[in-house]
Amino acid sequence: MTEPVTAVHSGPISSLGALLSRQGRRDPNPFYAELHRQGPVCALTGPTDRFDVVVHGYDAVHDALRDPALQVMTGEYRDQIGGKRWRDHLSLRVLADSMFLTEGAPHTRARRRFSHAFSARRVAALEPAVERIVARRLDRLAELGAGGTPVDLLAEFALPIPSDVVGELLGVPEVDRDWFPPRVRAFGAILDLGAGVWRHQKAADEAAEELTAYFAGLLAARRAEPEDDLVSALVAARDDETDGETDDAELIANLLTTYNGGFVTTTHLVGNGARLLMDDPDEKARVLADPARLDDLLQEVLRYEPPVHFSTRWAAADTEIAGMPVAKDSRVLVLLGAANRDPRRFTDPDTFDPGRAEGPPLSFGAGVHYCLGAVLSKMEGRIALPALLRRFPALALAGDPGERTTLMLRGYESLPVRVS
Ligand code: HEM
Repeated sequence: MTEPVTAVHSGPISSLGALLSRQGRRDPNPFYAELHRQGPVCALTGPTDRFDVVVHGYDAVHDALRDPALQVMTGEYRDQIGGKRWRDHLSLRVLADSMFLTEGAPHTRARRRFSHAFSARRVAALEPAVERIVARRLDRLAELGAGGTPVDLLAEFALPIPSDVVGELLGVPEVDRDWFPPRVRAFGAILDLGAGVWRHQKAADEAAEELTAYFAGLLAARRAEPEDDLVSALVAARDDETDGETDDAELIANLLTTYNGGFVTTTHLVGNGARLLMDDPDEKARVLADPARLDDLLQEVLRYEPPVHFSTRWAAADTEIAGMPVAKDSRVLVLLGAANRDPRRFTDPDTFDPGRAEGPPLSFGAGVHYCLGAVLSKMEGRIALPALLRRFPALALAGDPGERTTLMLRGYESLPVRVS
């Protein structure tokens, strides 16, 4: 899937400044369109960019994510480039211990341990629980929105559903689940692009402290009295481990980041999807009339409004991306959101069209770090969105949902709607 060497780099865009400006964050798609006019990959020279290369063409992003020379920014990498001060921050240590930011043996081990929880069979077994969770939240929406009172679809539906589902998956007791969302969101705020994320660091560290303590307690409880849940299975697998390489810190880091990765992402799939359908009554009617259209709809929501716009890598060895040489130690920004709008891959990419049959977007990544929860999040969307439309056929916006300004975990802060 390599693109022609001729369609490469150099051109007016050599900095991320426009993307990280207020306007760029509000609507990054004009920036992406400009990038595409310059080919699939660009060298960056802006003094404050913190990346050397940006890759945005669909094929180039797909190949870059599968290139073993391009690795996630592990703890050892961070130590090498900037010293160890980042280790003072618990939230950053947790991320570095998790499978998101490990490579090689620790990554393979963590993925193996967690992946059985995400098999198609396990996900299918979760369906009745998801239906129950959705039904409960619909009842609550009906209650709060009775008589046309505006209600926040994010706070009352799109946020609690994935949080409850990931709680169910991991084995977090129901009584504890409402405690998670604010902490998980505080932890997630440091994942975005740009220098501004530092202002969230303290809150993220405090959240990491509380979440780590919670999971340590849960591990201890399940070690003492195992139940039929993922945490008990993980504890048993770790205690059987003979190589002695894993410790509870690694397990806790993966539980915490899986909670984070599985929660606000799916929130925005549901929130962004509901918004697109409220704006498009014809599509809403088509989906309700033909449930078989749902998979195509979800795929198009994920392409058009991906909850995750980027990932990052560094070159552990000299390599090339779409014909452009990338020297060892280069820092690479991988724009999934731009790849999804590549006109060489998707016809008229800025049009929302669930009828297009042009293959999957890159919203779940690719290669060894491909999203573990892709099947689960799609199942949640497949249940939650039509249930919402069937229960409230008159669902409509009841106010300004405000701006979206994040590129990681991109979605609305609130979505005021009327359900009747
Ligand atoms: C619409 C919802 C979701 C989106 C858009 C999404 C997106 C992504 C992306 C882009 C990656 C790859 C990151 C990279 O290559 O650097 C990823 C990895 C991951 N996701 Fe998701 N995700 C979603 C839902 C979920 C859910 C529901 C879970 C679990 C409950 C989950 C767990 C994970 C984990 C554990 C990884 C790390 C895999 C690894 O590094 O090997 N995600 N996700």
